[in-house]
Amino acid sequence: MRVLVSGGAGYIGSHTVVQLVAAGHEVLVVDSFVNAKPSVVGRIEGITGQHLPVHAFDLTDKDKTERLFASERIDAVIHFAGLKAVGESVAMPLEYYTNNLESTLSLVRAMLRHDVRKLVFSSSATVYGTDQDGATEDRTTFATNPYGWTKVMQEQILRDIGAADPTLRIALLRYFNPVGAHVSGTIGEDPQGIPNNLVPYLAQVAVGRRDQLDVFGDDYPTRDGTGERDYIHVEDLAAGHLAALHRIGTMDEPVATWNLGTGRPTSVLEMVAAFGRAVGRELPYRIVPRRPGDIAVSYADPSRAEAELGWRATRSVDDMCADTWRWQQANPQGYPDA
Ligand code: UD1
Repeated sequence: MRVLVSGGAGYIGSHTVVQLVAAGHEVLVVDSFVNAKPSVVGRIEGITGQHLPVHAFDLTDKDKTERLFASERIDAVIHFAGLKAVGESVAMPLEYYTNNLESTLSLVRAMLRHDVRKLVFSSSATVYGTDQDGATEDRTTFATNPYGWTKVMQEQILRDIGAADPTLRIALLRYFNPVGAHVSGTIGEDPQGIPNNLVPYLAQVAVGRRDQLDVFGDDYPTRDGTGERDYIHVEDLAAGHLAALHRIGTMDEPVATWNLGTGRPTSVLEMVAAFGRAVGRELPYRIVPRRPGDIAVSYADPSRAEAELGWRATRSVDDMCADTWRWQQANPQGYPDA
């Protein structure tokens, strides 16, 4: 297939592009580069050995989106592009609603106009709101912050569009906590500024960019009192996108929803210990108060994806830490600017 990957220069997008090319698909990327460095493109090309065509614009630009679809044959779209920082979304709700909703509307409008029927959408466990423990796909969706609401709303928009045009084939993929990096250590997660998420923060402690990890609360009703999450290796997650892309062509219904997680929760302290094993020394941390908005436990019931996609996560938490550490050591400051 000829696959348009929006946000293909981002963390999950870049790993998925590599796997798409390896599977024999022809890939083109659209990315605004608001949260990705252009140097990722050369890294992807280094792994695949193929030129990657990249269109650098924001999908909220309807005219550019329309021109892209008018000038390129596209068989399917994987839509990663979007703003994704929870705290920032609370401070800047208008930007989040505008960017995330308008980009999806612009993309789907161009797809319909140019008869592109297949879409794989990046959703999140955040659509389960505060009910993320052992979540199954039929659980009621709601959110606790504007970022999460944009995912709930985009899912609803796509379900309504699928209901109105049953020839469409749309996969809604709900990710749990993606971590890890490509085994080459040449692509990985490169957060701008102070990392919000646990594993990128730990990686920066390990490489000496941060003094110690702040563990947000040890009084949760969990095994060791710290928050438990379903961390999934980004390579497993990318493989889930290919499985969904291949499956939707034979689906009976226009819209399907799949959780992508391991089903196994890991606590913050367990992750600190695992990352320490990868690095070969214990990493410093201190316990601080809970982070507002955090929940105790989040993990997937991934059985629907296993049954319907023939997909399951195969990589362990130790694999996730070893691969993150390889990437961080080789790229202590992330991707180069130029
Ligand atoms: C958050 C988002 C989620 C998003 C995900 C991306 C919510 C509420 N949160 O998930 O939507 O998809 O990021 O991966 O929707 N922790 C620390 N110290 C740190 C950082 C984190 O102790 O410096 C703890 C947190 O309290 C939590 C765990 O580590 O228990 C994981 O946190 P994080 O990596 O930020 O992910 P989530 O909050 O689960």
